Amino acid sequence: MKNYAEQYHKETSVGLSENLSKTDRFVMYKTGPVLWVNHGMGIPSLSICLQECIKLMYYAETTDVTFMRLGTSGGLGVEPGTVVISTGAINEFLKPEYIQAVLGKKVKHDAILDKALSDELYECRRFVNTPVEKGITMGTDCFFEGQARLDGPFCDYSSEDATAFLRKLYELGVRNVEMECNCFAAITYRAGIRSAIICVTVVDRLHDDTLKIQKPIFLSPKAFREYEMRTFKLASAYFKDRLANIANNK
Ligand code: URA
Repeated sequence: MKNYAEQYHKETSVGLSENLSKTDRFVMYKTGPVLWVNHGMGIPSLSICLQECIKLMYYAETTDVTFMRLGTSGGLGVEPGTVVISTGAINEFLKPEYIQAVLGKKVKHDAILDKALSDELYECRRFVNTPVEKGITMGTDCFFEGQARLDGPFCDYSSEDATAFLRKLYELGVRNVEMECNCFAAITYRAGIRSAIICVTVVDRLHDDTLKIQKPIFLSPKAFREYEMRTFKLASAYFKDRLANIANNK
């Protein structure tokens, strides 16, 4: 996030704040009207961060707020390095919802992303020199068995079953898998905040389990960092375009 904020500051010359987070859990940088916050890994961490950011937006009396999640993901049938803009978010039971436990009961919330925003982001692909695709994203609570991997410490299914599941996801239009999307989509939708998810794929799960960042022959740390900057490039192109439009219409 610090890299993203610094890069945005370099590209736009808007002021860059210090780290505004007073905890050691998250960081938060402000560049003009754009806040950069890391939410950690998985739904529990994201849920805390997201709800605190919603409170922050409320106390700051902000209007016309957009939330975007930028991250990495496992791709399905797309070249590693492809940026996927989520058109929908499903949970690991393949439902577009986030199931939360409240007062000892299961509560379901619809996981809905803003279609117009995903279309606008897709339009911004003309500003970046990177493959960009749209597709459904699946969020899981487990990186290994939850994402049909064979290389975790446990695995009670066959490689054929894993492949069949991943292929089924592909047929349903799922193009990437990560660990936050359905909660992110549900919380922002419930809050009435337009939101989008942009993730770069670091592996094609139809062919591989492992990210292989240890083996430079496949994906070096440098290449991994370059992949991570691809989501930034698309998001920052959108911010610059949108802010320029707002300024022109004033
Ligand atoms: N993040 C995930 O959740 N899965 C991957 O395969 C890569 C990144």
